[in-house]
Amino acid sequence: MKRVPTVGVFDSGVGGLTVLKALLTQASAADYLYLGDTARLPYGSKSQATVARYAVSSAHFLVEQGAEALVIACNTASALALDALRAAVEVPVIGVIETGATAALHNSQTKDVLVIATAATVESHAYSAGCRERGLRAIEKACPLLVPLVEEGWIDHPVTREVTGIYLADLLSHAADAGMKADTLVLGCTHYPLLRSVIEDALRKHPTGQAVRVIDSAQVTAEQVASRLALAPDGKREPAVRFYATDSVVKFRALGTRFLGRAIDGVELIDLGG
Ligand code: DGL
Repeated sequence: MKRVPTVGVFDSGVGGLTVLKALLTQASAADYLYLGDTARLPYGSKSQATVARYAVSSAHFLVEQGAEALVIACNTASALALDALRAAVEVPVIGVIETGATAALHNSQTKDVLVIATAATVESHAYSAGCRERGLRAIEKACPLLVPLVEEGWIDHPVTREVTGIYLADLLSHAADAGMKADTLVLGCTHYPLLRSVIEDALRKHPTGQAVRVIDSAQVTAEQVASRLALAPDGKREPAVRFYATDSVVKFRALGTRFLGRAIDGVELIDLGG
């Protein structure tokens, strides 16, 4: 049987399992290692130096375990630490900002794009820069309450609907003030694909949100990883996956199941230091 490469997927926690889920079907000509740095989550409220330090130690661990390429599923780590990661390891490193911006380019007719993400990702303006490089205008909005709501399991919940509606109304009104005719919304955080229908409902209810299409960065990342690393499915193949977490494996399994959409069997607890 043909040997397949091992790809390391890294996130600050379980949210990156939305990316792994897409990779398992769209890039199945590989085996996977998944590391959730749950002990040091959230990354989205931390400084660039701290996120880079955490991400680099996680990347070193995955390469030591045999990863031949890395997918940085965490938007915050991709936004703040991609250069540090590429300097730290010799394997190819793919981040989700580039893939999200490319997906926005393919989707947008008006060239005006909305992005929602963590505070750290928004403050880095990595999405704006990535969009600008592709001839798009982007306006970003930090939605810091959405990660804890998803972690709490409050998906189809009135509080989450209310909070999402407030964030999106604010974003849409800023876009209108800037004279933008946005037709695309990039979900710039690992947790947001779980809120996709809540987000789409909120857009539909808003007078200027109805024509906005939601881009799920997990799907697009998987497509682009498959094509960049030549991992598109070659017949029917079930990739092997090993899971690592830096905090409670019980919590990782319980919460991770929701993100991956299937049961997670073995998770190894590892210690990456402080
Ligand atoms: N994984 C992070 C992201 O995609 C969200 C969770 C966190 O703040 O660590 O930005």
